[in-house]
Amino acid sequence: MSSKNKGDVRSHFGLTSLPFTREIPVERLWPHSQYQQAATELKAAVEERMSAAIISPAGTGKTVVLRALKAALPEARYRVHYVKLTDLCSRDFCKEVAVALGCSPAGYYGALVRKVQDRAQALLEQEGLRPVIILDEGHDMRPEVLAILRVLTNFEMDSRLVVSLVLAGQPSLKKTLRREELESVTRRLAHYASLRLLTRDEIRDYVRHRLSIVGADHEVFDDAAYDALYEVGQGNLRATDHLALKSMEHAFQAGHKAVGAEHVTTARTKVMP
Ligand SMILES: Nc1ncnc2c1ncn2[C@@H]1O[C@H](COP(=O)(O)OP(=O)(O)OP(=O)(O)O)[C@@H](O)[C@H]1O
Ligand SMILES: [Mg+2]
Repeated sequence: MSSKNKGDVRSHFGLTSLPFTREIPVERLWPHSQYQQAATELKAAVEERMSAAIISPAGTGKTVVLRALKAALPEARYRVHYVKLTDLCSRDFCKEVAVALGCSPAGYYGALVRKVQDRAQALLEQEGLRPVIILDEGHDMRPEVLAILRVLTNFEMDSRLVVSLVLAGQPSLKKTLRREELESVTRRLAHYASLRLLTRDEIRDYVRHRLSIVGADHEVFDDAAYDALYEVGQGNLRATDHLALKSMEHAFQAGHKAVGAEHVTTARTKVMP
């Protein structure tokens, strides 16, 4: 759909901007307890100077929880660095870690690893800003990237780490974490958070919230449409986002002011394989 048509969908439903987009500010997130609790648990692990992981299927809200976590960690105490692990080679990852620890990412891999080690040791003594490295999409982590995680986790003051790692990934991350090379990392994972799929009622609340933050002052979906959103999207947030927006486009094209189940059914063929 062109941006003009998207603008038409927005004005057709009387909204201030397009709903269900990925760019949702932290302060406008849906305040559901499962996401708030996951962020609180991860924060508690970091405050304990431990590491933590969050594991759940695609599209269930992990990256959003990580953004909430980052926002909740005071800048005066934590240097938080977000890294997407997808397809990152070990050198690039090492550079990211160097940046996270506050040193220059220049130099060859070997030199960089030593620099990171030295810096980690210096931090042991200084205790100023505590580095927190958020590793998103950990299920795609290349095995050689694990080596640098080991380097990071081999430096310890007591049983605790100089760096807190927060690992996020889809369920195959569990298998990766069982690898022997990662034992030093998993031993210090103080907490595993997970997110579940939403119920029928929660999906309705979620959709209403996403519409209310873009100015909806009336019901955009009728009851049957909410049911259809749940049946098709199966309580998955990302699937629901795509489906809900596509359904609104179909209702707009059909000239309807409310989205009905038939629009969700039509949208289904456009967003699902
Ligand atoms: N608390 C929330 N409030 C509002 N929207 C949310 C919230 N959590 C998730 N979402 C919506 O769900 C979408 C999917 O969430 P997210 O990208 O965090 O999933 P994910 O678990 O990281 O998926 P993947 O494993 O594919 O990376 C987001 O783009 C956002 O639109
Ligand atoms: Mg994600």
